[in-house]
Amino acid sequence: MAKKVVLAYSGGLDTSVIIKWLTNRGYEVIAYMADVGQGSDYATYKKRAIATGASKVYVDDLKEEFVKDFVFKALKADAVYESNYLLATALSRPIIAKGLVKVAHKENAEYVAHGCTGKGNDQVRFEVTIRSLDPKLKILAPVREWELKTRSEEIDYAKKNNIPIDVSKKKPYSLDVNLWGISIESGKLEDPYYEPDEDIYQLTKGVDKASAKPAYVEVEFKNGVPVKLNGKAMPGVSLIAKLAKIAGDAGVGRSDMIENRLVGIKSREIYEAPAGWALLAAHKALESLVLDRETLHYKELVADKYAELTYYGLWYTPLKEALDAFIGSTQKRVNGTVRLKLYKGTCSVVGRKSPDSLYKKELATYEEGDVFDQSLAKGFIQIWGLPYKGSHKGLKK
Ligand code: ARG
Repeated sequence: MAKKVVLAYSGGLDTSVIIKWLTNRGYEVIAYMADVGQGSDYATYKKRAIATGASKVYVDDLKEEFVKDFVFKALKADAVYESNYLLATALSRPIIAKGLVKVAHKENAEYVAHGCTGKGNDQVRFEVTIRSLDPKLKILAPVREWELKTRSEEIDYAKKNNIPIDVSKKKPYSLDVNLWGISIESGKLEDPYYEPDEDIYQLTKGVDKASAKPAYVEVEFKNGVPVKLNGKAMPGVSLIAKLAKIAGDAGVGRSDMIENRLVGIKSREIYEAPAGWALLAAHKALESLVLDRETLHYKELVADKYAELTYYGLWYTPLKEALDAFIGSTQKRVNGTVRLKLYKGTCSVVGRKSPDSLYKKELATYEEGDVFDQSLAKGFIQIWGLPYKGSHKGLKK
């Protein structure tokens, strides 16, 4: 009996070639396509996978779960990797890996496979997740070990083996898309000084092409999760899609960065996450209104750690789950509405309100109605500064 392997299949060149490469080595290949909002033509890819030699194809709609259990958790955490990356690709890997493991169990497969190279983070995210869910599954990573060293060798292999593909020998960039954003790398971007052509961007307009008038949007949050856009309740998946269009048209959501990969390589990355950056700005603005100072400051430390764990493929780990519990507890009061102004590549918070607001006008005001007893400040400052009284020698020679 052939050894069964479930392959995380995207429909692209690498994973198409993998189907053939594995069947040529005696495996029965089941193709698994996870729909995380990349908008692929699944019907066509399904036919292709079968034509290439897969015995079966799964198309798994994970969009809702992806938003609820991955994207919005990262949003509640305010997680951003190295100040510029909203983690679209990183967040999608654990859910895809989980789906892969489920299908492997259903199909009684001994193996799972992915199409990642040995230089990136995605291999780590897939494999750490797969092992944490089922350490008995054997993992195959053909791209890491096969003899096909270049893209044109892969294309030649595809032609020789009648694998249906629709690529030319030149592929300007490597793309990974889902509903939270897009990651663009390689090709000309490998020169960190090279300014990308406008046509590299898929979800955002350049500032010169962006709408001439500002777009205002109102986002309402419940327990830290966006639930309404411009007063209209909608599920997360649609809210993200709608907002991505508005923010993208206003030129909001681009990053161009040099990033530290887990495997030690620095790489040039272009990201687009128009809805993500708008929601992050709104979420943080609401938190600044409703969270007390110490919780807010502590949560900022947690945000960096959360982004790191996500980036490093440590999603299904005790620390990440413990941080979710902490973050979840802070989000109970993150309710309210934020008004954003999106204009020519900028996203500004212009208003915020909340039933859980901690803002007290009667304390802040310099006008009528002040209830703050300023006489108390004198003693407070003396005690606060007590340890430092006379301690600085700076003025003495
Ligand atoms: N550098 C980003 C990350 O590690 C993007 C990876 C893009 N992946 C891809 N297969 N093109 O999350």
